[in-house]
Amino acid sequence: MQFRRLGEAHRQTVHFFVNGRPAQALAGDTVLTALLMNGARVRASEFGDGPRAGFCNMGACQDCWISLESGVRFRACSEPIRPDLRIVVAD
Ligand code: FES
Repeated sequence: MQFRRLGEAHRQTVHFFVNGRPAQALAGDTVLTALLMNGARVRASEFGDGPRAGFCNMGACQDCWISLESGVRFRACSEPIRPDLRIVVAD
């Protein structure tokens, strides 16, 4: 876990999947927050310098691009988590 929730824990639970495994977040979390609450990475670096976990958290740095099982790609920090989202995190 990269993030630890300090407040607003009363929001509704959202169930989604990471590499086929069930995961949970809270309604209103970004996909980036949801991923980092469930693990310590968003993707592997294409340049071999280790796992990536986002950087700017505001849609500017391009460090948090992720893919869904459908092949759709987007920035994890700019999209809210949705029920049954099926995210692929490359090793
Ligand atoms: S963390 Fe920088 S664009 Fe998403």
